[in-house]
Amino acid sequence: MIRRGLVLNENIVVKCMQLYESKCTRHSNMVIGNTMAGKTTTWEILQEALNESYKKEFAERDKAGQNTTEKDKPYKYKPVKVQILNPKAVSLQELYGYEMKDGSNTVWKDGVLARVLKDMCKADDAIENRWMILDGPVDTLWIETMNSVMDDSKLLTLDSGDRIKLTTNVRLLFECENLNVASPATVSRAGMIYLDIEELHWRDSLIESWIRKKKVDFGEDYAEKLKECVHSHLQKVMDVKKTCKELVVTSDSALIRSFTRLYDCLMVNFPYGKNEERDTYLNYIEKWFIFAMIWSVGCTVEGGEEGRLKIENILRDGAPTGIPMTGTVYDYFIDLERKDFKLWSDKISGDQKGLFKDKKFHEIQVETIDSKRNRYVVEALLKNEKIEILLIGRSGVGKTSMVENILRSIDTN
Ligand SMILES: Nc1ncnc2c1ncn2[C@@H]1O[C@H](COP(=O)(O)OP(=O)(O)O)[C@@H](O)[C@H]1O
Ligand SMILES: [Mg+2]
Repeated sequence: MIRRGLVLNENIVVKCMQLYESKCTRHSNMVIGNTMAGKTTTWEILQEALNESYKKEFAERDKAGQNTTEKDKPYKYKPVKVQILNPKAVSLQELYGYEMKDGSNTVWKDGVLARVLKDMCKADDAIENRWMILDGPVDTLWIETMNSVMDDSKLLTLDSGDRIKLTTNVRLLFECENLNVASPATVSRAGMIYLDIEELHWRDSLIESWIRKKKVDFGEDYAEKLKECVHSHLQKVMDVKKTCKELVVTSDSALIRSFTRLYDCLMVNFPYGKNEERDTYLNYIEKWFIFAMIWSVGCTVEGGEEGRLKIENILRDGAPTGIPMTGTVYDYFIDLERKDFKLWSDKISGDQKGLFKDKKFHEIQVETIDSKRNRYVVEALLKNEKIEILLIGRSGVGKTSMVENILRSIDTN
């Protein structure tokens, strides 16, 4: 875990052990937990640990000159190869297979899952274990067909009459959020490992590992400054946010992830300059920290007293943020020349006649504070990393036109 830059979280270690033990006794297992609870991390770490142990044993045997084959003396730990599939990303037919008309004949076409499983079961004598990871929501449509595979018979029967039998080195691992729609038949056949999202606290794990990485990249004082900012700003906003109404329900971990991503994207453009005083720079990053925080954690809440006002108040009451007192904290961006907060409204020219030139009436877009700042955030995210963005808002607020505008203006290279 530490090698991966993660925090040594006791819960994840315990879950890895549970998963290992469960895997020893059953060939189908399910890792259940909310998004960002650490499900993927758990099996990835177990996989890495098994691979490492195998390598170690192999080297030891090699050294002792007794590198007998697996058949003579089996390895204690076997290496693991994985195949990941999201069953909900394709239709049921594409998953298991379907009949297709080819001229006057009907031919059977294997689906993705059937194909992958067949490939995995081919080389029976291989040393390694193979895990098929089914990462996606469980629903009655696709999971019921899997029941017979999860059973002791280990048989998958396709509609074509084809049967796939799992070999001893092939295991199934399901990764899903809940089993609300799974039948008792499914649930009773698989081993269950549950991960509680509360155990992966955002401050102790996500932020901590993020700051550690920053310490390596930018130095100790940089990391200290970030810690300070987390303590004096982020913690408070996260606490208040819990009491706010949201358009789309978000989880703490997801918000923290969008915060760190936005911050990273923004900061790409502002590395430490040579002629700059370190203190000035550290104060500058605090401003970006606050800006990124407002436009990740602070922007998913509803407007008005229920949401933005609460965040506004907590930021104004707490440690100084450097944001001028006029307007709200949502009204400011960071001016690159002055390296200080400036009103968005200053950025919009009063005279927008130029924008209307040669345009049909329905193509005219009047710039507003909202369009300007949304565009700023979306562009920052798009330009610097491959990041998924979810735009939410009631119909007619201009989501599509904004996206079209941005995509049209982005450099295709
Ligand atoms: N011990 C840890 N310390 C720091 N970050 C962690 C730790 N465990 C998991 N994470 C981070 O949490 C995030 C979510 O984990 P993930 O395994 O992808 O969740 P899931 O598969 O349940 O959606 C990842 O970004 C991962 O890096
Ligand atoms: Mg996952």
